[in-house]
Amino acid sequence: MTQDELKAIVGRAALDYVTPGEIVGVGTGSTVNKFIEALATLKDQIIGAVSSSEASTARLKAVGIPVFDCNEVEEIAVYIDGADEIDPAGYMIKGGGAALTREKIVAAQSKRFICIADQSKLVHTLGAFPLPVEVIPMASHRIMRQFFALGGKPVLRLKDGKPLVTDNGQHILDVQGLRISDPLGFEAMVSLWPGVVEVGVFAHHKASVCLLGTEQGVKTLK
Ligand code: 5RP
Repeated sequence: MTQDELKAIVGRAALDYVTPGEIVGVGTGSTVNKFIEALATLKDQIIGAVSSSEASTARLKAVGIPVFDCNEVEEIAVYIDGADEIDPAGYMIKGGGAALTREKIVAAQSKRFICIADQSKLVHTLGAFPLPVEVIPMASHRIMRQFFALGGKPVLRLKDGKPLVTDNGQHILDVQGLRISDPLGFEAMVSLWPGVVEVGVFAHHKASVCLLGTEQGVKTLK
């Protein structure tokens, strides 16, 4: 199976976690795009979605699924999202699509978080994927120095030669060279640095279930 097919099988498998009559939290990325395609087949059975990015909002609306703001709903039954890396304890790196802040907000508001990914995302230790960190631009150089002091190599994410601006109007640093052996402690530490909007380690808000697309089919990790 191609990587695209592996993403499609987990996107479809995630429908098993969607309860009719509920609002569904929807993440961001190419795997989630497969989930949105699958969710469109159930659009008459759900109330709608809460989205983690402008990109997913546009896709949800294009298939006729109503999108609500987080503040319009109290609790979201289930949140479906992808990941850039997943370690054996289920801790993740996210933010490859620059949507980590809204993703963590929607995950925090959801009763269950179902992660969908192809098998290439499973790692022993987080950190080979450059860690995305959303920052307030005026703090970016100091935060970069703080990462250098930890042995990381931060770079400002660019788009069309200019700093990428997130849906929240902020910038993204991608930090290479980290080996995150204590994801809970690392997430807590970086979250305290002034100017950090959000760090792409999802340890305190890890998924309850991970659906992994493999050559043998969908593997469920709990
Ligand atoms: C976006 C994310 C995505 O979930 C992550 O980048 C995985 O994306 P893909 O499904 O395209 O591999 O965190 O901010």
